[in-house]
Amino acid sequence: MSKKTVRDIDLKDKKVFVRCDFNVPLDENGVITDNRRIVGALPTIKYLLENNCKVILCSHLGRPKGEVKPEFSLKPIAVELSKLLGKEVKLANDVIGESAKELTSNMNNGDVVLLENVRFDAREEKNDPELSKELASMAEIFVNDAFGTAHRAHSSTAGVADYLPAVSGFLIEKELKFLGEALQNPERPFVAILGGKKVSDKIGVINSLLEKVDTLLIGGAMAFTFFKAQGYGVGDSICELDKLDLAKEIMENAKKKGVNLVLPVDTKIGKEFDPNTESKTVKSNEIPDGWQGFDIGAESIKEYCEILKSAKTVIWNGPVGLSEFKQFAAGTDTIAETLANLSDCTTIIGGGDSAAAVERAGLADKMTHISTGGGASLEFLEGKKLPGIECLQDK
Ligand code: ADP
Ligand code: 3PG
Ligand code: MG
Repeated sequence: MSKKTVRDIDLKDKKVFVRCDFNVPLDENGVITDNRRIVGALPTIKYLLENNCKVILCSHLGRPKGEVKPEFSLKPIAVELSKLLGKEVKLANDVIGESAKELTSNMNNGDVVLLENVRFDAREEKNDPELSKELASMAEIFVNDAFGTAHRAHSSTAGVADYLPAVSGFLIEKELKFLGEALQNPERPFVAILGGKKVSDKIGVINSLLEKVDTLLIGGAMAFTFFKAQGYGVGDSICELDKLDLAKEIMENAKKKGVNLVLPVDTKIGKEFDPNTESKTVKSNEIPDGWQGFDIGAESIKEYCEILKSAKTVIWNGPVGLSEFKQFAAGTDTIAETLANLSDCTTIIGGGDSAAAVERAGLADKMTHISTGGGASLEFLEGKKLPGIECLQDK
């Protein structure tokens, strides 16, 4: 069932409470290192301003655990937003206290107020109805545009919809369009690339994608659990010994469903977890003791990229190697370049580290869609219902 968006209700001149996900990475000096989530919220905010609304923005940042902690203040976000919008965004210095009340009750049409980190209030993560009610009392309409937090049932992401007409913003609409269409109606061949650290993080996604894709390319540390399940030695590579049966089950399941599940034939290994460690490439069933697998090997890169070249839909979740270290980034970087050069293929990137890898390679605008959701995009791909979306009005 599709959900109403800001286009589907009359919000002219209204006071609107907008939940965004401004949970962006900050460096040790509090400088934003990736503003994609802020940029992603702009279309909705601009649309509301064009409609003469009073815009109250709300977000969390990090996990302050219900306490006011200055290092989790939304101050850097208010500054960045003001810059991007080209207009002043006033930051309240509390969530629903004196400052928030004063700023939000004295607004003119076209004003933008950002509330302080909603997780400074311990009731937020408990989805406490009292907090939802207080947040709702500030406005006439609830717009949820926090896709990255849509898998959390919290007061500001879901609870507030009990007290106000609730619709989605353009970012959530866009995320649902790309992720949803890929799952429901993909152009084929449909190929998924799954990497990252652990099989256990991605079991739900693997099982769900096995129902949909033609080919599943496995990379990253999770490959070693599959190798071990086939009886290979994996040296000191990351490997989940309690998931070997599961890995076998996944391989059998793929066979039954006619899905081509591909594991790397070769692996680039290193001596230590260190950017400058000694490294070499070996056949995947010949990883010696005392070594760790950190990337897919050159032969695998070639094979994976050949498969990708004929794909019409690709979903990529999780880097295929330790791509933060230059000498183990070739797999991830070459896959990113290959996807960037596909002209007739829908390419969807989900997962924080995969998105960061594509960004690092300077290829972000060459992809069809880079999700702003980490956990949320995983849960969506698993086919789970997301509370921040379920709570919105149906079309
Ligand atoms: P995403 O955030 O895209 O969903 P994950 O969080 O599941 O991805 O996994 C990303 C992490 O996995 C990265 O930090 C990456 O360095 C790490 N990783 C990938 N392959 C390996 C490997 N072979 N050994 C160790 N770490 C790996
Ligand atoms: C994220 O970064 O995945 C979202 O902002 C949700 O954050 P959380 O995992 O702290 O709920
Ligand atoms: Mg990650």
